[in-house]
Amino acid sequence: MDANKDIVNIGVVGVGGWGKNLARNYSQILKANLRYICDLDQATLEKLAPLVQPENITTDYQELLDDNKLDAIVIATNGPTHYSLCKQALEAGKDVYVEKPFVMASAEARELIQLADEKSQVLMVGHLLEYHPVIEHLKKMIEDGELGDIRYIYAQRLNLGTVRQDENALWNFAPHDISVILYLLGLKPSDISARGQAYLQPGVEDVMFLTMNFNDQAMGHVHVSWLDPHKTRKITIVGSKRMAVFDDLEPSEKLKIYDKGVELNMDYDTYAEYVGLRFGDITIPHIKVGEPLRAECEHFLSCIRNRATPRSDGEDGFRVVEVLEAADLSLSQNGNPVAIDGASS
Ligand SMILES: NC(=O)c1ccc[n+]([C@@H]2O[C@H](COP(=O)([O-])OP(=O)(O)OC[C@H]3O[C@@H](n4cnc5c(N)ncnc54)[C@H](O)[C@@H]3O)[C@@H](O)[C@H]2O)c1
Repeated sequence: MDANKDIVNIGVVGVGGWGKNLARNYSQILKANLRYICDLDQATLEKLAPLVQPENITTDYQELLDDNKLDAIVIATNGPTHYSLCKQALEAGKDVYVEKPFVMASAEARELIQLADEKSQVLMVGHLLEYHPVIEHLKKMIEDGELGDIRYIYAQRLNLGTVRQDENALWNFAPHDISVILYLLGLKPSDISARGQAYLQPGVEDVMFLTMNFNDQAMGHVHVSWLDPHKTRKITIVGSKRMAVFDDLEPSEKLKIYDKGVELNMDYDTYAEYVGLRFGDITIPHIKVGEPLRAECEHFLSCIRNRATPRSDGEDGFRVVEVLEAADLSLSQNGNPVAIDGASS
């Protein structure tokens, strides 16, 4: 796209449950023009018809690829279709945003990253939580050392909700939590182990427990489930100085910082003196929480205009897919740890 051009022409492909939110956002942002909506399902398209010109509502993806005025394509179809749609968009010279999971195999991710590089196209993956103001706040706290050394992070994404047939709970739910844990720690895990069960449909795990080991120092744990009595969206961070709990279902006080910890006193006579428990204050930082999806859409537009690399770029997508792939392998081996290549120390 011409860097001097102000308004970015966007086409959204897949305007179902989630894609309609993306289409709505791009139709509302002044610096964007929602030029197309595309879906295989006519009834789904009709619900969003007021958002675009009638001639730009289509079931034919090729129309988007062939339109020279279209700058970027936003892909919000089901995960297994992402690779092919993304490849076609990049080959047609479009900047691309693709929902999580980026693709279903790390080799596909690598190929798309290379293609985007060769064609100097923006490639962004929809790791929404990386644009959440609470996560941005936590990232800064960790960088400033306010939580101390991060010992472990665990995330719970549970409910009795939509049961998918084309992806298991891990590929559907866990990309958010994996991307956040990698983002907050700034590290790649050295190995992954995963256990899960398919209680509802054969071969499609609905409950998964995933553990990421970061060089035998920090640990990351993700519990995802479609079969749980409680709707839960929580991330807990345990640092050597402080602990933090992000509860995304809280309407306003989403982040609590606990000044709690264990201090070891080397100059001791009794065990009670050696292990000192610290129970300090609980603080609730004031964080203005706008719609993270709006922030994510604005970021994509800004990267398109400035030809910049998105925070959740193809490499970020690759790292998450690599973890998911290793988790699948571990799952098939009864939870044996699976090493990840090139983990940073
Ligand atoms: N970021 C988030 O918080 C979040 C939340 C929910 C879903 N998602 C992601 O969004 C994507 C879509 O999920 P959903 O819940 O909206 O699914 P959905 O099934 O409700 O919608 C998918 C839509 O894509 C359409 N579609 C499928 N293949 C197509 C093709 N080749 N061309 C055109 N249209 C096609 C379907 O007709 C359907 O309307 C998934 O990747 C999912 O993981 C992200």
